[in-house]
Amino acid sequence: MSQLRIGLIGNGSISDSHLLAYQCNPKAELVAICDLNESRASAGAKKYNIPYVYTDYRELLANPEVDAISICTWNNSHAEISIAALEAGKHVLCEKPLCKTVDEALRVEEAVRRTGKVFQVGYVRRHASNISVLTKFIDAGDLGEIYFAKASLVRRIGNPGGWFADKERSGGGPLIDIGVHVIDLCWYLMGKPRVKSVSGNTYNKLGNRSNIENYSFYKTSDYDASFNTVEDMANAIIRFENGASLMVDVSFSLHAKQESASISIFGDKGGAEIEPTLSIATEKHNTIINVEPQITTPGFDFQESFQNEIDHYIDSCLGIIETNSPVEDGVEMIKILNALYKSAAEGREIKF
Ligand SMILES: NC(=O)c1ccc[n+]([C@@H]2O[C@H](COP(=O)([O-])OP(=O)(O)OC[C@H]3O[C@@H](n4cnc5c(N)ncnc54)[C@H](O)[C@@H]3O)[C@@H](O)[C@H]2O)c1
Repeated sequence: MSQLRIGLIGNGSISDSHLLAYQCNPKAELVAICDLNESRASAGAKKYNIPYVYTDYRELLANPEVDAISICTWNNSHAEISIAALEAGKHVLCEKPLCKTVDEALRVEEAVRRTGKVFQVGYVRRHASNISVLTKFIDAGDLGEIYFAKASLVRRIGNPGGWFADKERSGGGPLIDIGVHVIDLCWYLMGKPRVKSVSGNTYNKLGNRSNIENYSFYKTSDYDASFNTVEDMANAIIRFENGASLMVDVSFSLHAKQESASISIFGDKGGAEIEPTLSIATEKHNTIINVEPQITTPGFDFQESFQNEIDHYIDSCLGIIETNSPVEDGVEMIKILNALYKSAAEGREIKF
């Protein structure tokens, strides 16, 4: 097989990034689209010239002309749709987070093992071009042993509302929504060490700040500010068995002076700042030096990273490469995130 026939489930805000990337890859053909909302599904079909349109994902999965799918639905349906798709013989790219609970995550992992289909978790930040550059430095030992990482994604007002704000459907707020990206990225770059313990705090102090005027932010396709059961912000420390540690803070609502994104990792030979832009700090001849890689995209470019992610998925489905974001990495992250929520609720450290 040299061309992959693609179905997309969930045609909301993020789906455009998937659809555009598939459209730009000559090895992929968009053949089916599904959304609970019929007009949204039809609009996507029209925009991307997709022949099969559904409102029930089971009908899309029953279509033998679909080889592989993207799941871009609410988090509470990721596991159910993933398992059904695998059992229908489809390869799966599932948006982050893998799902809500550890039980669901283990069931998806079991289905991947049983069916032997390709399963990729949508960890788009792993596919940023500055990460492939940094990985070469890490693999060459330029940072030495990485023993500390810290990541911060601060939104002053950025609760997307709708299902994102409904813990039942999302699994939580900024920790599971954006924390998942940066915890995963640091963990991946640190060499996926085994977790020893986690400690987290969550706060519900400001709500969704829907009173704020004249400020635009990311909203779900079904924005509704009247409902919010998720945390405003979370911070966490994750300890690993090899002695390394990771500190994180993320927010949807916070009285911060500005929006910010910063991710750094530190080793005994060098450190790397990943966001806002890639730079490496080290020493040479008893002098501290900062190395600024001269690359076209030194920071995180959303659509370029999605293109890399989709290209990687297609090549994995076609058997050209093995995915770098397997289901096991999704399972580990759901264990970490669930333990962090438990730690915050019980006010204590959770040991693994
Ligand atoms: N990788 C990233 O950077 C990134 C960014 C945003 C969102 N996401 C993830 O993508 C997913 C979707 O987020 P979004 O912002 O597009 O949300 P959204 O609310 O804008 O869109 C979700 C769409 O899924 C549809 N849907 C829900 N359940 C369905 C089902 N069972 N069958 C068919 N359609 C269904 C909804 O009708 C809606 O149109 C989430 O898991 C989110 O975490 C990832």
